[in-house]
Amino acid sequence: MTDPFEVDPDIRVASTLPADFYRDSAAYRAQIERVFAASWQLAAWEDLTPEPSSAAPLTLLEGCLDEPLVLTRDAAGERRCLSNVCTHRGALLVSERAPCSSLRCRYHGRRFHLDGRFAHMPEFEGAQGFPRASDDLPRVATGRLGPLTFASIRPRQSFEEWLGPLAERLSFVPWDTLSATDSKSYEVGAHWALYCDNYLEGFHIPFVHPALAQGLDYGAYTTETLRWASLQIGVGKEGEERLALPTDHPDHGRGVSAFYAFLFPSTMINVYAWGVSINAVQPLGPDKTRVRYVSLVHDAQRRSSGPGADLHQVELEDEAVVESVQRGVRSRLYQRGRFSPSREVGVHHFHRLLAEALAGPT
Ligand code: FES
Ligand SMILES: [Fe+2]
Repeated sequence: MTDPFEVDPDIRVASTLPADFYRDSAAYRAQIERVFAASWQLAAWEDLTPEPSSAAPLTLLEGCLDEPLVLTRDAAGERRCLSNVCTHRGALLVSERAPCSSLRCRYHGRRFHLDGRFAHMPEFEGAQGFPRASDDLPRVATGRLGPLTFASIRPRQSFEEWLGPLAERLSFVPWDTLSATDSKSYEVGAHWALYCDNYLEGFHIPFVHPALAQGLDYGAYTTETLRWASLQIGVGKEGEERLALPTDHPDHGRGVSAFYAFLFPSTMINVYAWGVSINAVQPLGPDKTRVRYVSLVHDAQRRSSGPGADLHQVELEDEAVVESVQRGVRSRLYQRGRFSPSREVGVHHFHRLLAEALAGPT
């Protein structure tokens, strides 16, 4: 039997993911374990543990992975991300951000160093082969981009491999001087991948976003794919707000007004003249998705012009169309579609990566 989620590498003959991918609850559970637990996710957008000798709890993807983690910083200033689950019988260790020199479980008093190593356990004198490596708190891989912290429970690739090629293209962004100015959440009544599918093509811009379309040169809009990412380049029409790209940047001189970068499976990095908007897509159920917007502003004066000006309006237009697709993929009469070879390269790439993740080892 052929894999039901196979997507042909040749976009000219490929079909999109079948409707079952979006509507089947077993498929949804597989996506959470095989795609989300194995991927890099935005964990924090501000520094949660600024002081040495402190710890702060954090839930990775609330309502989806719901993984209890703790960020620690030891006396020497070293940061770590650890499991927040006591290795004795599973109590949660840290419930609020606080200064501390070690982590102590309030259930039976097990203590851990701030790097996660087991330190002490009362009443275990007779226990044999104790402590073992599995009594230490598991460490969770993290990576940083400016003020953003990403974490992964079971990463399929290193943070460098995931982000590196895209970060190089976006290296003109002054990441280290940016800080999050605001964050906002939207709830969309649709499967998370439908929201991503929609993000991954500019094909719909003239149809769905009339105001945005006025500023972008549709003919010059391009999409490129990398191993774990894709990049859409929005070229502005004459007189439109443009990014100040350095002269040695590959897109210098093209009149770029926006970069729309997507990192598999669910992180969007949008670069505008005023700064960066991150959209983190978080599944809440087979037909419910949270999209968290985080803004990193470096030029507030330019915030009200160009394609990054009215993100709220664009979001509402996208939500309306994505929610209509959600109703459509539940139809008994819809199975799967085809790709535009010129305009849906990013969606095809995304579907290929999803099929690969679902077919591979957990
Ligand atoms: S669960 Fe933590 S010490 Fe028992
Ligand atoms: Fe859109």
